[in-house]
Amino acid sequence: MRFGHFDDGQREYVITQPNTPLPWINYLGCESYFGLISNTAGGYSFYRDARLRRLTRYRYNNAPFDFGGRYLYLRDNDTGKFWSPSWQPTRTKLDKYECRHGMGYTTIGSTCNQIEAQTTYFVPLGETLEIWKFQVTNRRKKPARLSLFSSIEFCLWDAQDDATNFQRNFSTGQVEIVDGVIYHKTEYRERRNHFAYFACSEKLAGYDTQRDTFLGAYRSWDNPAAVEQGKSFNSVAHGWAPHGSHHVKVNLKPGETKEIIFVLGYHENPVDKKFDPPDSQTINKKTVKPVIAKYLDAKNVAAAFQTLRENWDGLLGVYQVESPDVHANRMVNIWNAYQCMATFNMSRSASFYESGIGRGLGFRDSNQDLLGFVQMVPARARERILDIAATQLKSGGAFHQYQPLTKRGNNDIGSGFNDDPHWLILGVAAYLKETGDWGILDEPVQFENEPGSEQPLYEHLRRSFNYTLERIGPHGLPLIGRADWNDCLNLNCFSDTPGQSFQTTTNKDGTTAESVFIAGLFVMAGKELAAIAQRYQVGSARCADRTPQRSVPTSNTEAERCLAETAKMEKVIYQHGWDGDWFIRAYDDFSKPIGSKVCKEGKIFIESQGMCVMAGIGLKDGKAKRALDSVNKHLATKHGIVLQQPAFTKYYIEMGEISSYPPGYKENAGIFCHNNPWIIISETMVGNGNRAFDYYTRINPSAREKIGDLHRCEPYVFAQMIAGKDAPTHGEAKNSWLTGTAAWTYFTVTQWILGIRTDYDGLRVDPVIPAKWKGFTVTRRFRGNTYVIEVKNPKGKQRGVKKLLVNGKEIAGNVLPVRPPGSKPVRVEAVLEG
Ligand code: BGC
Ligand code: NOJ
Repeated sequence: MRFGHFDDGQREYVITQPNTPLPWINYLGCESYFGLISNTAGGYSFYRDARLRRLTRYRYNNAPFDFGGRYLYLRDNDTGKFWSPSWQPTRTKLDKYECRHGMGYTTIGSTCNQIEAQTTYFVPLGETLEIWKFQVTNRRKKPARLSLFSSIEFCLWDAQDDATNFQRNFSTGQVEIVDGVIYHKTEYRERRNHFAYFACSEKLAGYDTQRDTFLGAYRSWDNPAAVEQGKSFNSVAHGWAPHGSHHVKVNLKPGETKEIIFVLGYHENPVDKKFDPPDSQTINKKTVKPVIAKYLDAKNVAAAFQTLRENWDGLLGVYQVESPDVHANRMVNIWNAYQCMATFNMSRSASFYESGIGRGLGFRDSNQDLLGFVQMVPARARERILDIAATQLKSGGAFHQYQPLTKRGNNDIGSGFNDDPHWLILGVAAYLKETGDWGILDEPVQFENEPGSEQPLYEHLRRSFNYTLERIGPHGLPLIGRADWNDCLNLNCFSDTPGQSFQTTTNKDGTTAESVFIAGLFVMAGKELAAIAQRYQVGSARCADRTPQRSVPTSNTEAERCLAETAKMEKVIYQHGWDGDWFIRAYDDFSKPIGSKVCKEGKIFIESQGMCVMAGIGLKDGKAKRALDSVNKHLATKHGIVLQQPAFTKYYIEMGEISSYPPGYKENAGIFCHNNPWIIISETMVGNGNRAFDYYTRINPSAREKIGDLHRCEPYVFAQMIAGKDAPTHGEAKNSWLTGTAAWTYFTVTQWILGIRTDYDGLRVDPVIPAKWKGFTVTRRFRGNTYVIEVKNPKGKQRGVKKLLVNGKEIAGNVLPVRPPGSKPVRVEAVLEG
């Protein structure tokens, strides 16, 4: 069953009924001001940090699921009937309803009582505010006398405190109402120099800023007293719950349309210029007033919207494909790239499943997010890399998370996730391949944000690599620490106390439990580091003008050292990490294997198969194929590949959180979409284009749109998890949006299936596709040129570029060498001949 449809031309998903199985959301803003918005206008806004600078309040896990948002009410002043044009919160039956989620904006339109309404919500580029552009049309044959009420609930900034510290918070709320603008200034009197404002383009008939007055006692958002009586109370919040509501009277002739603009924003004043007059307690509005005035003007709103759309043309224009598969096309061309922007911005902090108060930016998550983002805005990727690297510990280890506002490592979670450091190498490798900006390796970067500790970024990569070498266990495999990629495989935790964090509790000394997954990751990252070391030396002339004095060795010897260590590790994997038909997953604190035939449950895991094959292990002697066939046999389902089998049916203290989940969910044999792409890449590496694409399609949300009632999450973005075959709800998705799946699927389909792959020295053309595809075309902007690459597959092969023509001239090999920037598209033709 479908709840809407794709409009690829407009790059929109159109939801045609408001009661979707779950809220289907979108993100507003992509720089510093952000909002989450559902198909019924639910959600909230924040500035930079979803926890520390929350502008509007939202109550998670509500019933209905999605409650609290950017609400409007229309009231017919002749009949007293009122409704919400976005359906929520009144849930009055609408005669027409349509929500269009687009690139950075959402439009919700509806008709009720012959009054047509449409609101477009977006954040203008470069601003710290959001616009609600509301249009209302009278479709009646007679005049309509209407009232419009807006409604938001202000959050008292720190969302965690806001939801818990009521003894204080009910006494701190403060607002100012000046010229129809509602200013929320709680705590501005003391240590904050920021405030929020909510403005309306029309003359007001009234306003409310005290929530409980607006609603009335024992009433809720579906029948606020002010709306019901058709008149605001002009309440001024003192403590309790500051709220923002404007009341506007709208009289419309038959067929007449009116546009009303609301602006909700965040503003900072210099600390010494907070008040005007200086000795008062009144907000200095000198710098905010022009901003408000600008966006209450319809012309400026239209121009800002146009700029936003054009910006997305540019961002998405980096990689466009026309293939025989509509689902792959729209995910690559539109939605998957768009989701990568969201994961880059949010990491795992704020979605409808991440509360915005729990998690900062993850070290491993943010590095992986680069794989799908770096091509869009390389400069932001660069900045992110340097920020992340600056939180690295001197040991080469990493703070597992850091806070976006402070850019400091998060002490509560700490470090000791032994896979973390390697993702930095892979993130930097992706950046170098995209940009060729070798100078980044010379950038001085602190450790633990400590002034004076600066070392070139390259030294950070070396320490990442060495970190594992200094933490080797009894079999010669890397020690796992608190967990590796699988946060729930907690082999040193041994927790028997309810409520203890599985990730931060350590009851063992950590000298025994080992990870085959980290071993594979080490080999993969080590090979990248070797490739970097080789070229960094060659490239040093190019970056000599940046930082000539380099204090770390970079040479072929360094590359050889990396390769010698990875070769050694490969041997250990063969010896202790191979189980006969697949790669073992880990060794526990008793040195017993996990993910082996000898285990009763959890005999085979997906992660080590994907990571070892991606690292190139077993490609020559058939072990890779064998492992992948085992995945196919034991783990693949029609909804995707589950994480392990058999699922754990009880709690194993020596395994940790993984066995805390009921079978089929999350890391306990759920389809953890994040690592399905590892198997897909592995399949392309062994030349199996049919299987790779088939696996890709199983988790592709667009391809799952038709089973929307089972899948339940948005059909335009990947979800973190789809319930596995052991769950009663097999096929049901959860945790949409903020997942490593976004970057990995994007990277996989663009670089490994379609095979247009960035490399240090050029753009590789190496598709591995379904045999039935006759060909496809990719347009790729890369280092100053636009390549139009036409791949032909006349013989029905799955792989093997035999002929590569550049502007009509055949070249050897399958790498398009870097060329001087040019304005004419480079025409490339590639023929697959197997
Ligand atoms: C989840 C993991 C997640 C971890 C983060 C666990 O409860 O199952 O997917 O990585 O929390 O702390
Ligand atoms: C989600 C976390 O954000 C990520 O870091 C982790 O690798 C996966 N869960 C698997 O546990």
